[in-house]
Amino acid sequence: MKSQFRFFQSAILASIFQASEALVGLSWSISNTPETGLQDITFPISMPNAPHVSGYYFAQQFNFKNQSNVGYTGLQPREDVESSSVIHAVFSSFINGTTSTDSNCKDGADGGAGVSCAVDIDASYEHGYHLKVNNTGGTTWSGTLIDAVTKNETHIGAYTLPEGSGGILGTQVGFVEYYPWNSQAQHSCATLPQTEVTFGIPTTESGEAGSLEEPYEYGDCLNEVNFATTEVDDGYWIAVGFP
Ligand SMILES: *[C@@H]1O[C@H](CO)[C@@H](O)[C@H](O)[C@H]1NC(C)=O
Ligand SMILES: *[C@@H]1O[C@H](CO)[C@@H](O)[C@H](O)[C@H]1NC(C)=O
Ligand SMILES: *[C@@H]1O[C@H](CO)[C@@H](O)[C@H](O)[C@H]1NC(C)=O
Ligand SMILES: *[C@@H]1O[C@H](CO)[C@@H](O)[C@H](O)[C@H]1NC(C)=O
Repeated sequence: MKSQFRFFQSAILASIFQASEALVGLSWSISNTPETGLQDITFPISMPNAPHVSGYYFAQQFNFKNQSNVGYTGLQPREDVESSSVIHAVFSSFINGTTSTDSNCKDGADGGAGVSCAVDIDASYEHGYHLKVNNTGGTTWSGTLIDAVTKNETHIGAYTLPEGSGGILGTQVGFVEYYPWNSQAQHSCATLPQTEVTFGIPTTESGEAGSLEEPYEYGDCLNEVNFATTEVDDGYWIAVGFP
């Protein structure tokens, strides 16, 4: 019990460290996760009311058994191209020794060790999306963006973890981050643009129940930006920033 608690605590600290300009966190879990970890997990995220402007990252983090650093998967709004809306989907690993030969992936994650994979697709903001992470053999994992309405699937990327890495552990935290602030020495919380996102309850093919806890504000703009959250049918809606 004690070591589990300490592990969870350090996982949260690691995630705060990496998501350095995160504004909102929320924890997820899957019940009865096997000792060896999960072979797949799906995180629903939708952003119908997010402005089509780069800057926000809506992500969920996950740990693999025997690795202390995390992986991320999530969505970022992008500017429209001509009259098409564009969504950027990310699948990354912060684990040193992760490798990839996938053309959507490159070495490094936020300037540190790991691999980052991403795609930009013409896609509707009206639809919800499922970000699926699944094992495709050995220590290789694939990230897929699935349109929740049309079920169309887009490959985000694939990477191979160091030998000895296991399945996905049953709990971690997600976040809302305004990443332009990561490269600035200082920022004014009052200039945070407004956005909205809904995080859905994670699922896994084994059918074990997933859950989300109520989103909370954190970081250096705590209590200084508009923040609202409401539980919806299948998750939590979050709004942050100023119109
Ligand atoms: C990754 O691991 C290698 C080999 O252990 C080490 O030399 C390197 O410094 C590590 N890279 C980072 C960014 O930690
Ligand atoms: C998951 O992995 C299997 C192979 O193990 C693959 O056939 C499938 O297309 C993958 N992707 C999804 C979204 O399930
Ligand atoms: C489905 O996804 C593929 C791969 O990203 C894309 O090329 C295609 O345009 C999409 N189709 C629809 C109907 O959205
Ligand atoms: C995780 O590490 C333990 C202890 O070193 C080892 O026994 C186990 O086989 C590892 N798990 C995987 C999936 O390799």
